[in-house]
Amino acid sequence: MIYLDNSATTKPDPGVLKSFEQISSHYFANPSSIHPFGGEAEKLLNMAKKQAAELLKVRQEEVVFTSGGTEGNNMAIKGIALQHQQRGKHVITTEIEHPSVFEACKSLETLGFDVTYLPVDQSGVVSVKDIQKAIREDTILISVMHVNNELGSIQPIKEIADLAATYPKIFFHVDDVQGLGKVPLSLSHPGINLCTISGHKINGLKGTGILYVDNRTTLFPLFHGGEQERNLRSGTENVAGSVSIVKALRLIKDKETSMLDHLYEVQAFLLHRLKDISEVDINTAEKAAPHIVNFSVPGIKPEVIIHMLAEKEIFISTKSACSSKQSDESKILAACGFSRARTISALRVSLSFETTKEEIQHFIDNLKKAINQFKKVME
Ligand SMILES: Cc1ncc(COP(=O)(O)O)c(C=O)c1O
Repeated sequence: MIYLDNSATTKPDPGVLKSFEQISSHYFANPSSIHPFGGEAEKLLNMAKKQAAELLKVRQEEVVFTSGGTEGNNMAIKGIALQHQQRGKHVITTEIEHPSVFEACKSLETLGFDVTYLPVDQSGVVSVKDIQKAIREDTILISVMHVNNELGSIQPIKEIADLAATYPKIFFHVDDVQGLGKVPLSLSHPGINLCTISGHKINGLKGTGILYVDNRTTLFPLFHGGEQERNLRSGTENVAGSVSIVKALRLIKDKETSMLDHLYEVQAFLLHRLKDISEVDINTAEKAAPHIVNFSVPGIKPEVIIHMLAEKEIFISTKSACSSKQSDESKILAACGFSRARTISALRVSLSFETTKEEIQHFIDNLKKAINQFKKVME
């Protein structure tokens, strides 16, 4: 099998699985229980939090364990909106956010909030000037993703954080689900208040995640109950999941340091080979994240190519996994201004640190075959 759909999800690392299994088997007590067995689970949870904080270079109390990216984004966006609505009801975001941000913002509109969805340029990048122009007296939140999940475009997070830092009353949330481990980002920047991370995108487990909430930021909780996680997320804590995501975080940070060049090299190889195929138009711009390549084969439905490749056990995707079963057109590519021929025929290849050039070559050979086979049938 050649798995090239790592932006949809990644293969769990064996070490991550082992830590989850061990903690689940041996430390299954409820960390809130007052007996010593509960105390041991609580100690493990606190240790996981401390280690996560060290790896992310933030404070321990700023780490909130969640169930993943969708929860983190909803918790951040609705949490800020509901908590700070007396101060204002205006939110700024972009047209290319993941549905867990976009739909969270849409839901706020039904509650009387006003949301500005900023456009992007052809590379899929939002302009900091546009953000500055959109800021109003009643703006309470800016939410911008770090790396786009379909295109791999990198947003100017540091510049937006510099801008946000000059507006102490505006919170800035970053969805770093696709960027973590691939495009470095410093959370210690004073302009960043919230940041979403998902475990299953970094060789961790589904159902695990982290929301960074800096200690100046207050949120209205989505879940009320036993007041766990600083009362931000009630519910019995997932100790094994929390330990496992910290393990995944440590591993991906190591790879970010030692293997990023390799990832860029494999991506360059892929781009080079794709450019040789006359039927292919590459949509991903020059300065993109190293693990995502988006391209179109105008005139051929992406599902056709995906199924033909799947027969050879090569797995790629159209758009993002979350929206790939919906309308034909990529909303993200449309926002970049691509023609309809391209927005309805887009494919995404997403790499892992383990992807090899041999696998890419095999994919390219089979992509060429699939295109030629399709053309023959249509003759
Ligand atoms: C940019 C981005 N944000 C958020 C999510 C949602 O994360 P999860 O699947 O952990 O809910 C995804 C998942 O594809 C994503 O790509």
